[in-house]
Parts: sequence; C-alpha cells; structure tokens
Amino acid sequence: MIKNSLKAINLENKYGAHNYHPLPVVLSKGEGVYVWDVEGKKYFDFLSAYSAVNQGHCHPKIINSLIEQSKILTLTSRAFYNDVLGEYEEYVTKYFNYDKVLPMNTGVEGGETANKLARKWGYLIKGIEENKAKIIFANGNFWGRTLAAISSSNDPLSYKDFGPFMPGYELVPYNDLNSLEEAFQDSNVCAFMVEPIQGEAGVVVPDEGYLAGVKKLCSQYNVLFMADEVQTGIARTGKMLATDYEDARPDVLILGKALSGGVLPVSAVLADDEIMMCIKPGEHGSTYGGNPLACAVAKTALEVIKDENLEENAMLMGNYFRKKMNDLAKESDLVNLIRGKGLLNALVINDSEDSSTGWDICLKMKEKGLIAKPTHGNIIRFAPPLVINKKEIDESCQIIRDCILNF
Ligand SMILES: Cc1ncc(COP(=O)(O)O)c(C=O)c1O
Repeated sequence: MIKNSLKAINLENKYGAHNYHPLPVVLSKGEGVYVWDVEGKKYFDFLSAYSAVNQGHCHPKIINSLIEQSKILTLTSRAFYNDVLGEYEEYVTKYFNYDKVLPMNTGVEGGETANKLARKWGYLIKGIEENKAKIIFANGNFWGRTLAAISSSNDPLSYKDFGPFMPGYELVPYNDLNSLEEAFQDSNVCAFMVEPIQGEAGVVVPDEGYLAGVKKLCSQYNVLFMADEVQTGIARTGKMLATDYEDARPDVLILGKALSGGVLPVSAVLADDEIMMCIKPGEHGSTYGGNPLACAVAKTALEVIKDENLEENAMLMGNYFRKKMNDLAKESDLVNLIRGKGLLNALVINDSEDSSTGWDICLKMKEKGLIAKPTHGNIIRFAPPLVINKKEIDESCQIIRDCILNF
C-alpha cells in the first residue's frame, strides 16, 4: 500500500478504538456514485455508507442547503422554537403521510424513541400494567449498538459481555407469522419492531405477504407495527418505503441514514396522533434533535429523492443489476444466489458464514475499483447510491464478474 494510505491507517489504529475492521482503503473525496482514495484512485461506492448516501456523495443541492443554513443558524436546542423545524416537520409528515414526527439524530436513537413511544402507548392506551410491557423483535434484527439495541439482538458479537440487558424484549423467528401470532397471545405485548428487509443480517428478504401479514396480526391483537426503515427506507429498495410493497403501513415508522443524504446524522420517528401524543414535554428529547441545520438538510435530501425520481431509478437499476448477477450465478460455482430489492442487494457465496471468502473478494474488487463490504463471511452487500446509471451498472458488474470468475 502507498505511504499516505498507510499513514492514515496507522493513525487510526494507534489513536482510535478498534471497534471496526475497515477495508484497507482511505477515502478522501466523493461525488455521486464515486469515491477517491488519498492516492487519487477512483472507486464505485457499493456500500453508500450503509445506505446513507442514497442521493450520491456530496449532492450539490444538499450541500448547498448545508452551507446556506450553517451561515444563519445551526442549533438552538428545543428549549426554544426555531424557524426551520416546523416547516421541515410539515414537509416530512406530508411526505410520508403521518400526523406527527419526532426528530432525532442517529438511527439507533430513532429505534430507541420508537421503543419508548411503544411502551408509553402500551401503558396509556392499551392499558398494560406498569412495567409489564413487552416488545417483540425478529431474530437477526439489527438496529444499532446501544444497550437497548443489543438487548434485542441474537448475535453474540453484538451482545456478548455487555449484559445485563434490557428486560421486556422477546424474539421470534423472522418471516414466521405463526410464531408472531403465538407471541401476541400475551396481552402485555405493545409492539413488534421489524426491518422490512433485514440489512445487516445479509439483506434477508421475507416472503411476499409477510409484511401485510404482520400488519394484519398487529391490528388484530392491538399491537403496534413498528417498521425500522433506517436502511430500507427513502427509495433504497425501489419504493419510498420497503413496506410500500405490501398493504403494510407501519403504525410507527423509523427513518435515518439517507434522511440527510449522508451529510449529518438525522433520524425521525413518524406516527399518528393517538400514538405520538402519548409523549409529553420533558419525557423524551435530544439536544441536537430537530436542529435547524439538520432540518434544512433533511428537507432538501427528501426533495432530491422526488426531483430525481430515485425510487424509479432504484427499481429499474436494481432489476437490471440482479439480472446481470443472476447471469453470473449461472456461470460461477462460487455464487449461490443474489437477493434483494431495488438497489439493496446481496451476493451469497458458496462458502461458510465464518469463511473469509467475502472479505477476500472485497479486497480484489477494491483493487479493480469497486468497494463493498461483507455482512457475513459469505455475504457481500451491494448498495450503490441510487443515482447510478445503466452504464455505471455495466461497468461495476464487469468488475464484480472479473473478480468472481477469476477468484
Ligand atoms: C435497520 C437499521 N436500523 C438502525 C440502524 C442504526 O443506525 P445508526 O448507525 O445511525 O445508529 C442501522 C444501522 O446500520 C440499521 O441498519
């Protein structure tokens, strides 16, 4: 590796906590679907910062909003009103068709907020006895790294040696309506929180009808359906929300990542009044949540999705990408299958979950100018910015093809 990259990597290794294992590439610039390393080498970005950069790196309109708002007012805290928050709240609630929004910063805070909201609703509206509320999650879920989030995880890498854990959480198998219905027999259940496609678990797509089935069961048993669309939302899967594929409007919608187009940590929880009004002043919040800079950026980031038809592009390019990858799967013994929706896809390799094959292929692809990251030893996620065009898909598929066929 060249000196500049090594220097940056050594600095991170020496002075930063070792809580990540990055691919050895040091990025210094991004534009659209491309990023450049410190030596000037150009790459297709096939991770998009875990689907935060749906609108493409450094989108000029989003950056312009960031610059313009940052010259005027960036943070007031919620101790006072500001003149951007209300406008953003109106925009985002109309955009996703909910009565109200609760603005936060990171995705995991969105999940945490949804959990608190569900418990409050459980006590105030459903009438659950105090401290008895339960929230159900699916095996394989990932919603972040806080103690609450890892308390619902069944991945030892997430939870081991971090106990004791949050009580009142239970797990059911993903994509299994019978088990969910069984769990709902307990009248202390206030919510089921689920990803419409499990991203970190390896882009696991449930059967058709699962989400509509979840919605139906939730209505039947008076349980909140909380969709974690932090990774799947905002056009990533070819529709504005992955739950839009079915008759499955969530009672509580959690968004993050691409809500700012990769510019700032901005998350949001959306719900109708009956649920959202359960939380009263002083019961929840965040110093930075709803700050004017984040609101200006998020409004523009959402406008860009519509102005540039990124839903449609993700759908078309996603179908085209999977077709090309399916052709590759037919030719290569190494590829088991390709799965996903829109531009959230994963290539499953014919090897064990704890193998290093995914990582080794990612290293090869990096050499050829495309960066991606395995979610497990044998699963590589492919999630480029949604602004990618057909020619760029052709070029990137050629890189993936060369690497797989020559591996
Ligand atoms: C589905 C899902 N929810 C929540 C999160 C947490 O988001 P953040 O890392 O911004 O806290 C992630 C992050 O990858 C995610 O994929």
